Amino acid sequence: AAETGINAWLRYAPVSTPKFSQSLPSNIIALNATANGPVHIAAVELQKGLAGILDHNLTVIYPVSYQPGNTTSSILVGTVAEYANTFGGAPHIPRLVDDGFWLNTTGSAIQILGHNERGALYGAFQYLLMLAQGNFSNVAYASNPDAPIRWVNQWDNLDGSIERGYGGRSIFFTNGTVVNNLNRVSEYGRLLASIGINGIIVNNVNANASLLSPENVEGLGRIADTFRPYGVQVGIALNFASPTANLTYGNLSTFDPLDPDVITWWTNVTDTLYERVPDMAGYLVKANSEGQPGPITYNRTLAQGANLFANALQPHGGILMFRAFVYDSVNLNESVWIEDRANAAVDFFTGLDGKFAENAVVQIKYGPIDFQVREPASPLFAYLRNTSTAIELEVTQEYLGQQCHLVYLPPLWKTVLDFDMRANHTKSLVRDIVAGRRFNRPLGGAAAVVNVGTNDTWLGSHLSMSNLYGYGRLAWDFASDPEDILQDWIRLTFGSDPAVLAAITNMSMSSWPAYENYTGNLGIQTLTDILYTHFGPNPQSQDNNPWGQWTRADHKTIGMDRTVSNGTGFAGQYPVEVAAMYENISTTPDNLLLWFHHVNYTQQLHSGETVIQHFYNAHYAGADTAQTFVTQWEGLEGKVDEERYNETLFRLTYQAGHSIVWRDAITNFYHNISGIADSQNRVGNH
Ligand code: GCU
Repeated sequence: AAETGINAWLRYAPVSTPKFSQSLPSNIIALNATANGPVHIAAVELQKGLAGILDHNLTVIYPVSYQPGNTTSSILVGTVAEYANTFGGAPHIPRLVDDGFWLNTTGSAIQILGHNERGALYGAFQYLLMLAQGNFSNVAYASNPDAPIRWVNQWDNLDGSIERGYGGRSIFFTNGTVVNNLNRVSEYGRLLASIGINGIIVNNVNANASLLSPENVEGLGRIADTFRPYGVQVGIALNFASPTANLTYGNLSTFDPLDPDVITWWTNVTDTLYERVPDMAGYLVKANSEGQPGPITYNRTLAQGANLFANALQPHGGILMFRAFVYDSVNLNESVWIEDRANAAVDFFTGLDGKFAENAVVQIKYGPIDFQVREPASPLFAYLRNTSTAIELEVTQEYLGQQCHLVYLPPLWKTVLDFDMRANHTKSLVRDIVAGRRFNRPLGGAAAVVNVGTNDTWLGSHLSMSNLYGYGRLAWDFASDPEDILQDWIRLTFGSDPAVLAAITNMSMSSWPAYENYTGNLGIQTLTDILYTHFGPNPQSQDNNPWGQWTRADHKTIGMDRTVSNGTGFAGQYPVEVAAMYENISTTPDNLLLWFHHVNYTQQLHSGETVIQHFYNAHYAGADTAQTFVTQWEGLEGKVDEERYNETLFRLTYQAGHSIVWRDAITNFYHNISGIADSQNRVGNH
């Protein structure tokens, strides 16, 4: 039964299709010879998939035993180049880019051709995931990714714990080293490949230098060997101060990025890593943020810090992901009206656009603060025009219920991806910026903090896997529709019963709005405990600390004044049209009102409600919606296997109860502080 969870959406459950079974192919011709390469995996998956879905067994023919001849009853899978070699001519297909594929089921042989081996594997998964949904229509299309970087980040510590992980211990590390048994890593690679993910950072952004010990480099090599067949390249997060950490590579007294010894040190470390992992994806660096060391320690710029690593990686073809999440979490002072953590990213990167190496990418959290339930798009996306950028998302539901709450996140991510920055008064969607299209950048894409663990469900709950699946699908095609993605995931995970499809669609699509309603609306952010757990309601914890996620709530007023005219000036970090929209209350959308403005509780919204009454109403509405998740799920009893039915029911019941805790905590807090009665008389003592 554990397999149900571990296979997630790759279950290959039987579907009935009497007609199709007449003309099923009888063999798979794997065109590329690479031992244990992605094409080999593609063949194995096709074999496994057709056996599971259609109870049909196929022989795999490898190049060594392939005799050119009749292919009518074959699935041809491999690279375009190998196809041309084998059949003496290139296929007539649309242009493919790296990782792209061509899938054609209309001819006598089924063609699955990739630009590279990885692309062929992606095509095989596309074909299988179509069949697994009972879709046997004939298709012929090319699919290319929106951007080259489609990575996941794991925040795994070497001791096996995971920062902000809610699905058990690390599948990579234990006791300071890499685990012996990497079976789960292989299973993870399979899931990631099936949604087009091509890179993974395996350790925490708050990195520990001991990852670079010879023993651990060997361990990373084993991890990379395990992911390689799936086309997933491994990278690591670095601690900027590693040269001073007394490692076997020699101990320096400085980590100044311009110091020649430091440069040599990192070059040697990088060369050593590439000896063991020749296709290493690159590095991820968090610097000068939340107590982490960085270049600013030596009065060097962030770009100088980033380029230290980019230059070491460059000869090997590696990429340096440099996080834009830079802010000072010690000295922020709420008593200063114009101080604002949201300003930090653009402030710290001011003057640095165009100063980053060509193989460096700035990885930007979707919003300016920290994975909140609602944030405006980070203005840094529009500020960096001569620098490659990627969007950072979070699958692990840190502030968003920690997998104890169903919150389907792609609709939230879309609010940022589809946002128009109006750079130079021209359409500038965030998704076109990070894809590299808008500012003609060679690199770009997405990274998501995932944090799967040893739990059989990977993330801790079956339903939360829609977020990992959805992330991969969006990173491949930023324009795709969250509800379509969701429905593919439901059919693959739970089958095609229309009642199951309808209920899970409905619950998932209403889950983020509900969560926003019962945790923190109008752009006030997730009113959770900010100091320790990031779980459960704690509105008072947001203020009077240097974390800078302030609400500035007092007896009469609430919200952050981020205007240029009277506040922190944050609104002015956007291109002029967007800046003007946020500068004025009348043009600021209600759902971001308190993000940009400090107003009276009695301020009227566009909707006609007052701020305080909206708080009351939204929290009741959100909790009401969460109650329906339980009843909707109960309607599926007998339609979902018992194990997943019960585990999910348990979580949804918890969520329903916790949403009421949230509702009452938040409404009472603001009722007490404002002294304003709920017009429907639900809140407070009466
Ligand atoms: C959040 C999170 C931290 C993490 C940080 C980051 O603040 O709570 O655990 O280290 O983000 O993204 O670096």
